Amino acid sequence: MSRWIGTANHGFASYAMEELRRLFPSIKFQQLVAGEVFMLELPDDREQALKKVQDNEPIFLRHIHPVDRELPLNGNADDLQELSNMVRHACKLFEGKRTAVHVRRVEGSPYPYSAADTKAVLDAVLMEVDSEQSLQHPDMILSIFAAKDKLLIGWGTPEQLLSDWPGGAVRFQREEGQISRAKFKLLEAERTFRINLAEFREALDIGAAPGGWTSLLLERGLLVTAIDPAELHPSLAENPRLTYLKKNASEVKFSPGQFDLLVCDMSWSPLQMCKLVLDLQQALVSGGSAIVTVKLMHRKPLQTIREVMSKMNEAFEVLRAKQLFHNRDEITLFLRRK
Ligand SMILES: C[S@@+](CC[C@H](N)C(=O)[O-])C[C@H]1O[C@@H](n2cnc3c(N)ncnc32)[C@H](O)[C@@H]1O
Repeated sequence: MSRWIGTANHGFASYAMEELRRLFPSIKFQQLVAGEVFMLELPDDREQALKKVQDNEPIFLRHIHPVDRELPLNGNADDLQELSNMVRHACKLFEGKRTAVHVRRVEGSPYPYSAADTKAVLDAVLMEVDSEQSLQHPDMILSIFAAKDKLLIGWGTPEQLLSDWPGGAVRFQREEGQISRAKFKLLEAERTFRINLAEFREALDIGAAPGGWTSLLLERGLLVTAIDPAELHPSLAENPRLTYLKKNASEVKFSPGQFDLLVCDMSWSPLQMCKLVLDLQQALVSGGSAIVTVKLMHRKPLQTIREVMSKMNEAFEVLRAKQLFHNRDEITLFLRRK
């Protein structure tokens, strides 16, 4: 038996739960934050459950952490004292490791300390066992969730927790002159799918305007062809590595294998998007990669995704399908051309 806290993008928890129920038919859920965070109880032990989740990673499950310990909440200084004692007892797990402390709370939790104060105290406890505080590339994450009546505490590697950010909420710094928030989606896909964009030579960006994705691809040193009937941001106009076709994607043709990367973020009907991408697949070299967002337009996202994946399968192998933190009503696919 094991217990876990699962997190999905706001409004998508029920789909994450549906995916989890398929993996673990006798799973039991309890809601912690409406539409977003839930507790799950499984008959499987921790290792079996982790393996199943990693082998069949649910699209809508952004983050998961085991509940290894529980502490009742008093709503006073004892809470932090008891948490510190608990971590001190468990500290062998973190010995000599780079450890990040993640703290989240539900609204109305009586736990009286901020995330920053909790982290400061626990970092000091962890330093006693020669564990180095590391937010960027931790080996281990100590996750604390302050619920309404208790602290739920668990630990694991970033791979086991599916993210190295608290609750999988990846934050990127907004840059000066950034063209669109959409850029964060591609940055997150690059991290989550472990893609090194700089390794590609030439990219086709379908539905490129105003140009957030195009700007990132240019920053990574690629040649880019951007297609969109809408205007690209003027800051991109002079870039010698950019070709801009102010057209509908259904009107363009390219030589076979011209590109080794295709990206598409069209916010359009998913099946139309599929058709456009499949019509342009020849432009992508065999073995080339594609990153596409799939808009979830109606109420049955899992069915839409199944249909899109089965269509895409005609020409692509689906390497990953994930709702990223920066995806709104959509998911992101990482594909390889067959
Ligand atoms: C969400 S925006 C793309 C944002 C972009 N990824 C960025 O980072 O700035 C969607 C774009 O897709 C374009 N689009 C929709 N249908 C298209 C089509 N058939 N051909 C080309 N572009 C299309 C729209 O004009 C719009 O600019």
